[in-house]
Amino acid sequence: MNLYLDLNENSYEIIIEPGLLHKADRYLDLDRKVLIVTDEGVPSAYAQSLAEQCLEPVIVTVPQGEDSKSIRVWESLLKTMLENGFKRTDAVVAIGGGVVGDLAGFTAASYMRGVDFYNIPTTVLSQVDSSIGGKTAVNFEGIKNIVGAFYQPKRVLIDTDLLNTLPGRQITNGLAEALKMAACFDEELFALFEKEDPFAHLPEIIEASLKIKKAVVEQDEKEGGIRKALNFGHTIGHGIESFEQLHGLYHGECVALGMIPMCSEEVRGRLVPILEKLGLPVTTCLDRKQVLDAMLHDKKAVEGGVTCVLCETIGHFELKKLDADALLERLSRI
Ligand code: GLY
Repeated sequence: MNLYLDLNENSYEIIIEPGLLHKADRYLDLDRKVLIVTDEGVPSAYAQSLAEQCLEPVIVTVPQGEDSKSIRVWESLLKTMLENGFKRTDAVVAIGGGVVGDLAGFTAASYMRGVDFYNIPTTVLSQVDSSIGGKTAVNFEGIKNIVGAFYQPKRVLIDTDLLNTLPGRQITNGLAEALKMAACFDEELFALFEKEDPFAHLPEIIEASLKIKKAVVEQDEKEGGIRKALNFGHTIGHGIESFEQLHGLYHGECVALGMIPMCSEEVRGRLVPILEKLGLPVTTCLDRKQVLDAMLHDKKAVEGGVTCVLCETIGHFELKKLDADALLERLSRI
């Protein structure tokens, strides 16, 4: 199945099909120098398979985890491109999850003012959400995604076979992002999470999530309005994430916790059983003040409060500015 993300001159195809990686050269122009960025958590055979289809591949494997989304690692990728004589007509490909996509995308966006970027996401989280929409970034001074660019890929290959090696916790991590989109935009998808076994419906969930995200990004590429709804669960989630990093919670797990206090009673009553069914956390012993401090450092923090996404009814959302007191009160609901 193909989706076409229509952004005028920045439009691109999203191709969804099992087994795509091994025939990537049918869909991507690999007849040039190609920087393949992957991480230590991704089976090395994936990058190797792509490299065999490239004219001049250069594979860089970064350490797994959020720490690789740094200026230091970004600089090392630029250096590799420079040392290998990459030109503006060459390309960068990400093979990995959200960290690899954000890092490789920002490298592609910045090298020689922009070279072609392709994304081959290998996690549920990146297949349902982060691989499309053009958000690229690294973290800086402890602040997530504070240095980056909107830079759309030239094509995205969603190969659902690549999920076969993922541990269960990584799958639920990504499903949290799909559930976020269902809660705000798609009652039918939310009902699927409620009534069915989501693990048995992964391809369907991925397709439905991509369709939601495509429609949102087409309306609001640079997050002036409706795209903010994709941050549902992220304001508190990012606060918990920076604070909880030592305790090892995954991004989707923090988003799961972050959604709970931003819902009406009615939505919470339907959301929490789904989170429990998926094995996502629904409680945490957190220091509310510390989480609040972390949230107020978030780049979405502005004078007079933080714009939050509230879900009062399934399939709908509301954007509302909450001040520090209101956020503290919300935090007490987890
Ligand atoms: N992951 C949220 C967005 O792309 O806007």
